Amino acid sequence: MGPEGSQDFDVYLRTAISVDPQGWAQFGHVKMPDYRWGIFMNPKEEGRRIHFGEHKGEAAWQDVPGEHRANLRRIIVTQGDTEPASVEQQRHLGLTAPSQYDLRNLFQVNVEEGRHLWAMVYLLHKYFGRDGREEAEALLQRNSGDEDNPRILGAFNEKTPDWLSFFMFTYFTDRDGKFQLAALAESSFDPLARTTKFMLTEEAHHMFVGESGISRVIQRTVQAMNELKTDDPVKIRAAGVIDLETLQRYLNFHYSVTIDLFGADQSSNAAIFYSSGLKGRYEEGKRSDDHLLKGENYRILDVQGDRLVDKDVPMLNALNEVLRDDYIKDSVAGVGRWNKVIEKAGIPFRLTVPHKAFNRQIGTLAGVKVSPDGRVVSEAEWAAKVDEWLPSAEDRAFVASLMGRVVEPGKFANWIAPPVMGINRQPVDFEYVRFN
Ligand SMILES: [Fe+2]
Ligand SMILES: [Fe+2]
Repeated sequence: MGPEGSQDFDVYLRTAISVDPQGWAQFGHVKMPDYRWGIFMNPKEEGRRIHFGEHKGEAAWQDVPGEHRANLRRIIVTQGDTEPASVEQQRHLGLTAPSQYDLRNLFQVNVEEGRHLWAMVYLLHKYFGRDGREEAEALLQRNSGDEDNPRILGAFNEKTPDWLSFFMFTYFTDRDGKFQLAALAESSFDPLARTTKFMLTEEAHHMFVGESGISRVIQRTVQAMNELKTDDPVKIRAAGVIDLETLQRYLNFHYSVTIDLFGADQSSNAAIFYSSGLKGRYEEGKRSDDHLLKGENYRILDVQGDRLVDKDVPMLNALNEVLRDDYIKDSVAGVGRWNKVIEKAGIPFRLTVPHKAFNRQIGTLAGVKVSPDGRVVSEAEWAAKVDEWLPSAEDRAFVASLMGRVVEPGKFANWIAPPVMGINRQPVDFEYVRFN
């Protein structure tokens, strides 16, 4: 189910051989089937205590407590299911890579997602007995976008048809991974906490691929705009680069689909997962409240007629929303850095993240149509404007028309600028992939 047609390539990959600073980033050319899928866990912290929920203060669990077994299994299966899904979504992209450098980054992300699946499978096999083994097997049977047996979460059944989608996906959706893993890294179930802590070190590179990828697309676009002295999308497209309006629509799509991954804004499961110590908040240890949250409130969005209004609800039930809001803060920062590239080129256009209620399919906001600037709109207005707000079939066809394979070292497709630096201080024109 991995990358297509690439089993024999020697790829300049980063392989972890241990979790210490010397061991986790070993670079060298390897065939992807030989990439080492080790079990990597951060070292055990002696005397680690549970630091949130009703078991706060007790020793962290080295085994699964019977009462929490079903919920923990569900959490691990849901996380595990996302890992191979993205590889399945991306398996055709190697055929249209814009450069060797980018091809290598795609493969790096793919092997690490494969290893992340392996990490979750290890927990299922080691700690959950027969039903764990069955769940692990089912992880291999589900397939992204499969009509009969899809992946568990919506965004992981969407297609990643082109490299613009890939960069948006690694920026936005791998960042969802970061926040889920960070919340699991707080878990009272110590093996899960230690495994996810190590996965987080790898996730940083995936988001880098997305952020720098989009940044390079923008760089190339604004260069062409300045050369042509135009902001007309038709002329910009004719020059073979991606107009900023299309970038904005892709951003709107990936952002809205990804924030749905955090689940319903009010969820009794989220409250149970937190109170029983299974899943914490982002940076739980840095927060100064009582880590029990009983009697605390949190402000969420509600719909009243044709208006969005604020509503205070018990925080324990709103923990999905708390994590989503932390995610939103984090993802907005990178969009600001993309805007710096546009600003530097002297172009007035700015990318923005759409309103939280835009294009939502899960929770309270699923029932309304909302514009990117946060107005509740009629079905008729939505239908009239949707092609300005989300990628249209025509946008996707245009982006697809730019995709072509560029594999000569140091050469890049016309629609994307080269990176500032190579991988592991290698030159940009280094032979990152040897085709055999
Ligand atoms: Fe992952
Ligand atoms: Fe990732």
